[in-house]
Amino acid sequence: MKHLLSAAQLSRDEAVAILDTTLDMAEVRTRAIKKLPTLRGKTVANVFFEDSTRTRLSFEAAAMALGADVTTFTAQGSSVSKGESLKDTLQTLEAMGAEFIVLRHAHSGVCDTVVNSGWVDAHVINAGDGTHEHPTQALLDAFTMRTRLHGDVSRGRDLAGFAVVIVGDILHSRVARSNIWLLRTLGASVTVAAPQTLLPREIESWGVTVESTLDDALDAEPNVVMTLRVQKERMSSGYFPSESEFSALWGMTSARLRRIGENAIVMHPGPMNRGLEIAGAVADSPQSTVTDQVANGVATRMAVLYTVMGGSR
Ligand code: ASP
Ligand code: CP
Repeated sequence: MKHLLSAAQLSRDEAVAILDTTLDMAEVRTRAIKKLPTLRGKTVANVFFEDSTRTRLSFEAAAMALGADVTTFTAQGSSVSKGESLKDTLQTLEAMGAEFIVLRHAHSGVCDTVVNSGWVDAHVINAGDGTHEHPTQALLDAFTMRTRLHGDVSRGRDLAGFAVVIVGDILHSRVARSNIWLLRTLGASVTVAAPQTLLPREIESWGVTVESTLDDALDAEPNVVMTLRVQKERMSSGYFPSESEFSALWGMTSARLRRIGENAIVMHPGPMNRGLEIAGAVADSPQSTVTDQVANGVATRMAVLYTVMGGSR
């Protein structure tokens, strides 16, 4: 695999291989010397046209842990303000030696355009394109589920038999889309719960069960509840009557945490709106995987960089 453009491109075996490589990388990170020389002499360019904390910093950490040189480009403060195009920006970075381009952009489908138009020869990794996909988030989420729910014997396994509820702003969420494709590939069943206004029109064709409230979705006793950020920056009008109504019907509250039982986990990709889609007490509870997800993000991105460069286990 030369590029990682979408979670939908991954077969079950490719996805399981990346999860197993992630386990190897996580083991490397527990050693006294936490680095591998795999990408020594190579340059990874992180190219971010949208804001990021977790994805950008964890790709930097992952590239450095594999011995690469890292260049970080953020659109703010760059010659994009002088009208420079995406194509010219990427070709400029490649001319400076970038062999891996990690790209986040507001335009859905932009990573496919970059690759299909042949703008660069570099490996391209999608770090979030508009409302389309965020494949490394889905991989780190799958790794987190597999580790928490299968424990030490997770190697080689997929997520068959797991029931996952994804709740909240599905419409604007590239995390939801990538998770839905990957979870289905890995054999999990997926239920989504959201206000009608925050469900994509084509949801019925995605192979998921749709419930109109979180309480209805929790009746099925899921192993995982994945909460999503309400993406106010992508909303042009009112999508729900009020924040208090949103959290009453679709928020992961302490009362709902008690309902799901202590073996189930609650996830959130971050950044969180505490008190809206997830209560602060739930985010800080032992059943929350929020910080595990961040920690697993580094090992997952090491595994993805390794995989696109042609490495195998
Ligand atoms: N950080 C994730 C993303 O960039 C989720 C979010 O922003 O809500 O897609
Ligand atoms: N989860 C996630 O992608 O976070 P950032 O937007 O901070 O990178």
